[in-house]
Order: sequence, then C-alpha cells, then structure tokens
Amino acid sequence: MERQEEKNFQGEIILSPRFNVRLDVAITFNVKPESETFLDEVPPVQNSPHHELQPAVDTYAEWDTWETVNAVKDAIAEIHNVTLVEANNDAYLKLKELKPDIVFNFAEGLIGVNRESHMPAILEMLQIPYSGSDALTLGICLDKSRAKEILTYHNIPNAKFLVAHRTEDIKNVRFDFPLIVKPISEGSSKGIFSSSLVKNTKELEDEITRILNSYNQPALIEEFLSGREFTVAILGNGDDAQILPIIEIRYEDFPQDVVPLYSYEAKWILDTKENNFDVFECPAKLDKQLEEKIKNTVLRTYNVLKCKDWSRIDVRLDKHGVPNIIEINPLPGIMPDPNENSSFPKAARAAGMNYNQLIQSALYHAAKRYNLV
Ligand SMILES: Nc1ncnc2c1ncn2[C@@H]1O[C@H](COP(=O)(O)OP(=O)(O)O)[C@@H](O)[C@H]1O
Ligand SMILES: [Mg+2]
Repeated sequence: MERQEEKNFQGEIILSPRFNVRLDVAITFNVKPESETFLDEVPPVQNSPHHELQPAVDTYAEWDTWETVNAVKDAIAEIHNVTLVEANNDAYLKLKELKPDIVFNFAEGLIGVNRESHMPAILEMLQIPYSGSDALTLGICLDKSRAKEILTYHNIPNAKFLVAHRTEDIKNVRFDFPLIVKPISEGSSKGIFSSSLVKNTKELEDEITRILNSYNQPALIEEFLSGREFTVAILGNGDDAQILPIIEIRYEDFPQDVVPLYSYEAKWILDTKENNFDVFECPAKLDKQLEEKIKNTVLRTYNVLKCKDWSRIDVRLDKHGVPNIIEINPLPGIMPDPNENSSFPKAARAAGMNYNQLIQSALYHAAKRYNLV
C-alpha cells in the first residue's frame, strides 16, 4: 500500500491514499425526483407507508441530485470500475447479481425511520463490503433522541431534551425558554424554520402541533444552546481518524431579522448557488483550548456511536462556553459545487483535499477496514 503524505493546516499529516488495486465499486444513492430519470416518487418524510402523502416544501431536502451522484462516480472512476445502483426496491437483486468488491453508499433511503439503514442492512446480508457507518449507527443517529441518550450515558454534553408524542407532553418540560422544537428524525434542516425557536408556551404548542401534523413523527424539544456553532468533519477510523478544519456558522453575519439557527431558510432559501450566503468560516477562529475541547468532544462522539469512515458532527456552545453535540451526520452531505456551501467538501478543501480525493479517501478507509487494500 502506497500513501501520499501531505501536510494539512495544523502541520499534521493528511493521508491522501493511493489504492494499490482496481476494485469493482457499486455506488448506492437516492436522487431528488426533479431529476429526469427518477422512477419511484416516494417522499422520505413520511414515516408510515399508510400515511396520506403530502409533500411539504422541504420533502426532498435530504436527497441528492444527479450532479452529486455523477461527481461521486467521476471521483471513484478515476481509480476503479464503477456501477450506479439506485437505492430502491430493485437494489437487493441488482447488488446480489453484481457482487461488487465494495459499495460506496450514500443513500438517504426512501421510507421509514430506518430508511438510512436499509442499504447497509441488505449489504450486510449479502456480505458485500460497504463504506460508511452500519445500519445500527445510522438508525441511532437518525433518531436524535436515541443518539442523545447514548451521549448522555457517556457524559458527552448535549442540550437537555424531551420527546413530545402529543401536545400534552409539554407539561413534562423541566427546562427554561427559549427552546427549540424539531422533528425527531430528519436531516438537512427539514422541519427547522425560524419559528422552531420558541419563547413561550403558546409558541411551543404551535410548533409541536406543526411537527406532529406535517412530519408524522414525535417532536424533540431541546434547551436552546445560545453560543457559537460549529460543524466538524471527521475522516477515517481508529488511530487514522482525522478532524478536518472546523467550520463556524457565524451568526453575527446573519441578516438582523433571521433568527440564529441554521434553519431550512438559512440552508436552502437564503443560500443558493446564485446568491451565496457566506456565513461560514473555515478554519474557524478558535483559541487552542476551545479547539482541543471541540475536537475531543467530537472524537469521543464519533467513537461511542461507532461511526465508520466519515461523519460530520454539529456542535454548539452553551451559555457557559461548553461545546455541546447537536447531532451526528454519519451520511454527510457532499455537494461538489463549492458555491453550494456543502460543509464536508468545504472542510476538505480547507485541508488541501479536492473533491475527488475526499471521496476516494472515504472509500479507502472503508476498503481498509475490509482488508481490500
Ligand atoms: N438545542 C439547540 N440549541 C441551539 N440551536 C440548535 C439546537 N438544535 C438545533 N439547533 C439549530 O438548528 C440547526 C439544525 O438542527 P439539527 O439538529 O442539526 O438538524 P438537521 O439534522 O436538519 O441538520 C442547527 O444547526 C442549529 O443551528
Ligand atoms: Mg445539522
């Protein structure tokens, strides 16, 4: 195995792997239905197959575009043989027939609270190696309350929380306003709007009702962490795990009338390819002590949740300046266009890795776990 060594921003070594084998790689993914060739229009937001489907403004926010799928394909095809397999109901038989050496999986899944786990579970059943976290880790991280229970057991700071299955559950809230209310198992800022930050009981009730009705799942009520916010990309496993340059979401750069949340409005409406909403600083300006604290908290989180190959972890400081974990993204967004402000590729660029190297690295770490390289 050959490795090319480069120095990153901290003078630590970034490994940009060179594969010593050409592998047969299948890529599993889901694409947004606007894309011309999409076949199964099943919105992922609905957690029950019996639920009346009512696509909301953010229904497809988690799914990728062909631009991303093709960029991943091109990155892997620089080195390997590539086949695309859409992660739909036909995927099991296709993969069984194809028998690739390894799958590069970034499928968000179609339906249900275990949607992200479906591909890893069938790949495990078929005994085909695959990149990224396994079904268990993906399932736990998609249910933010389950992930927080594990963090709490390991004394990793995270906001106090309560799961509301119905509006009456707010009588059990034991912490102070302001609070934030979000769907228990979504990503890509789905369900998180400016109104999610609530200052009184009336607003809290309204938000819970909105989440229960529009997203057909429990609401997670959390104490609002009022400090600086960061998102941290990790690449690798065990002693090879590296933290890429930390990104700060600078709330002081938000327009005055926009609440300090990385909400759906902030992620997808204010920030478009054409109208770049530049509130990201990478590497974040941090004193050494805080930087070490963030890295330590994030690495412990990655390890206790048994994340594999890569993940992006959201962190916010509480009023005492302590880094708290907001959530873990074991399937990080990987939009290739720098103007899209996709965090993982942005952090990789700051470390001196281009998009193709990032994708190849994630695959390399997976291949290494399976002793394929
Ligand atoms: N407890 C919290 N305190 C402060 N801000 C929060 C809290 N939870 C979420 N947020 C804000 O909402 C954003 C989206 O929440 P997050 O749980 O990361 O959802 P998603 O999975 O959609 O990214 C965060 O980036 C942060 O700005
Ligand atoms: Mg997030």
